[in-house]
Amino acid sequence: MGGGTIRNAWYVAAWHHELPGGAERAPLARTLLGEPVVLFRQEDGTPAALEDRCPHRRLPLSMGTVVGDRLQCGYHGFTLDGTGRCVRIPGQDSIPEAARVRAYPVVEKWRWIWVWMGDPALADERAIPDVSLNDCPDWAVTEGDPLLVAGHYQLVVDNLMDGSHVSFVHKSTLGTDDVADIPVRAERVGESVRMVRWILDRPPAPLYAALGGFEGNVDRWQIITFTPPSTVVVDMGSAAAGTGAPEGDRSRGVELRSFNLITPETDRSCFYFYTHVRNFALTDEQVDKRVKSLFREAFLEDKTVIEGVQRGNERFPDSPRVDAAFDRAPMMVRRIVDRIAGREAAAPSRALAAE
Ligand code: FES
Ligand SMILES: [Fe+2]
Repeated sequence: MGGGTIRNAWYVAAWHHELPGGAERAPLARTLLGEPVVLFRQEDGTPAALEDRCPHRRLPLSMGTVVGDRLQCGYHGFTLDGTGRCVRIPGQDSIPEAARVRAYPVVEKWRWIWVWMGDPALADERAIPDVSLNDCPDWAVTEGDPLLVAGHYQLVVDNLMDGSHVSFVHKSTLGTDDVADIPVRAERVGESVRMVRWILDRPPAPLYAALGGFEGNVDRWQIITFTPPSTVVVDMGSAAAGTGAPEGDRSRGVELRSFNLITPETDRSCFYFYTHVRNFALTDEQVDKRVKSLFREAFLEDKTVIEGVQRGNERFPDSPRVDAAFDRAPMMVRRIVDRIAGREAAAPSRALAAE
């Protein structure tokens, strides 16, 4: 099933390293919310994002080359600047006003390149989801390789907001956790949905047992938060039992947090960007490797079922779907997104940030 898509929002278009700087500068083609976009770095490293179409004969600009601060078409050399204006046509001095393409607001922040696909007048950098820990010296970062998923982006969000699939989909990776059956309540906080699970005074989970230096039992938490348009933060941690973590003092614990940012590519595909940050074993390469491979494997398991559900939705678009109790959180999320997308369709100049 499809679902609403919010346009007036920042979406991750690429990891910073997918757009190398210096001598390696090259355009990157990426379809975002159904629109072909070309990304490139200007001379000072600032990213630019343009409609991926040469105003001359519509060759994708991404097939061209970056020259100085500009993008030069690979066919006859029309050259466009970062604002989308053509500044050079070989063999003539005058440049028609129509020789321009759409430029998208773009910002590089916290290791990601963010693009605003809605009304440019509303693009406010402060509305970028807070993933500052992805670029913070006190936290180690394990960058996940982006996944292209052949499924509607909300299927990925559904999956992240639904813990009940863990024992079935992730039997061999994450599913051995004995707390998966402890129920969680989903609650709405403004336009966010939060699921909180505390497991008090129990032995630490394997990943933390060795690394957290715990001698006895721990208080464990799993806090999953959705914020529009499609950000899911999963915060998993442990602190020595009775040290105040459930009352809000999680500072003495060890914590692993994943940021999941889903960007629609088309109505039936999306980019899944994720990263894991942690405040323990900061320079331990073994932990890096373990985190990277464990979650990679688990996400590939998710990708397989999400793509299966997409095929099911396309084959049986009109058949009924029966909901279960554990669908509550994903359905809360869909209602929020649909409501914002509906409002936006009615009044395209209203920004998510101003809600
Ligand atoms: S198609 Fe781009 S310059 Fe001709
Ligand atoms: Fe999963």
